[in-house]
Amino acid sequence: MKKLLIEGGNQLNGTIQISGAKNAALPIMANCLLTQEPVILEGIPQLADIKTMCEILNELGATTEWLSENELKICVTKEEKNTASYELVSKMRASICVLGPLLSKRKEAQVSLPGGCVIGTRPIDLHIKGLEKLGASITIENGFVNATADNLKGTKIFLGGQFGSSVLATGNILSAAVLAEGKTTINFAACEPEIEDLAKFLIACGADIEGTGTHRLVIRGVKELKGCRYKIIPDRIETGTFLAAAMATQGSLTLQGANLDHMDAVIETMISAGANISEEDNSIFIESKNGIKAVDFTALAYPGFPTDMQAQMMAVLTIAEGTSIVTEKIFPDRFMHASELSRMGANIKSETGKAIVVGVQKLSGAKVMASDLRASASLIIAGLAAKGTTELNRIYHLDRGYEKIEEKLNNAGARIQRVDA
Ligand code: UD1
Repeated sequence: MKKLLIEGGNQLNGTIQISGAKNAALPIMANCLLTQEPVILEGIPQLADIKTMCEILNELGATTEWLSENELKICVTKEEKNTASYELVSKMRASICVLGPLLSKRKEAQVSLPGGCVIGTRPIDLHIKGLEKLGASITIENGFVNATADNLKGTKIFLGGQFGSSVLATGNILSAAVLAEGKTTINFAACEPEIEDLAKFLIACGADIEGTGTHRLVIRGVKELKGCRYKIIPDRIETGTFLAAAMATQGSLTLQGANLDHMDAVIETMISAGANISEEDNSIFIESKNGIKAVDFTALAYPGFPTDMQAQMMAVLTIAEGTSIVTEKIFPDRFMHASELSRMGANIKSETGKAIVVGVQKLSGAKVMASDLRASASLIIAGLAAKGTTELNRIYHLDRGYEKIEEKLNNAGARIQRVDA
């Protein structure tokens, strides 16, 4: 087991290259199951979750081969085994992404139930509802979702749940609909850039999809999909995390290869909190040297402020001037990081769906524990701004979602070491 030692008080200044988006890469990799032709994906980040998805695809009869550092070739060679095992699925919730493609291409799927996680309960009722509407028979037995469908047929599906749209449910229904007979309309589809990217990938493979990037997707089923070469979009959450780190250390960063168009809500919130942010040919530049102002924000579905950036922005606001209110509308219990930030001197009171952050002058380094991926990032941001050294434990969460994070931050002036725990 490893841990990070973060020496606080070093301002970030420099340039960081943004990686491909994990949350676009995972569903797109799973959708390679829809064709027996080879697919070459560019911009795949080297992460633990990507390795897990490769293992799942291998288990399901696909070969995965790294052609270069971020270029992955996936090719289905056997279609006999349709079971995604508990051992792999339990490592990562995004494993549920193989359900739609398996059902669509092989007419059968057994996927271990992903279960809950620390950010709150994670039901899959919308995935099931959508697939059943397309004609699948689904049972849940012995911890597995068992789905069969002789013939999926296009239909109208309303995919709104009590928390709005669902990102991965939209992905699964889209995967099932591309080879279904006739026309499928998904209303209240998630319009997150990662789902738009999945739709664009499927179109590159020969699918017929209208309305990409909107809440209404119209899919006309085709007989088969072919292989293609496709480049994954830049990671908007990694970009936001580095923007937050620049703010917390009152530094300046250029983030190369980032896409500002996907980041309106984050950028508006950061500008209100005192940052200067501008776009410079395919890069984002942030300078934050005049302190941090309190700001209220609400985590919502896209194009709202992303829940996956809530913890990192909260870390910044712990040292703002004034009191901020953070409202979480996607995962109301996603405040595990608040108690760890408080161990570093932050003043946060949280209840279901809401946290009140009273800015303090300075955080101080402490031993802290990462509860999930984005919580880990928030503790690094706090550690970079704190006085003294922060010891971050359970960093396996971090390695699930951030490519070379210490190297990237250290090249911009941070002092972070990975040592044995
Ligand atoms: C994806 C992202 C995750 C992000 C989340 C919300 C990936 C791999 N993961 O997860 O990082 O935090 O979107 O932006 O892309 N819900 C239901 N029933 C369902 C499915 C979801 O009620 O069948 C609820 C969830 O509990 C949650 C809300 O809908 O309250 C949104 O969740 P959803 O968009 O499905 O999250 P994921 O797709 O699992």
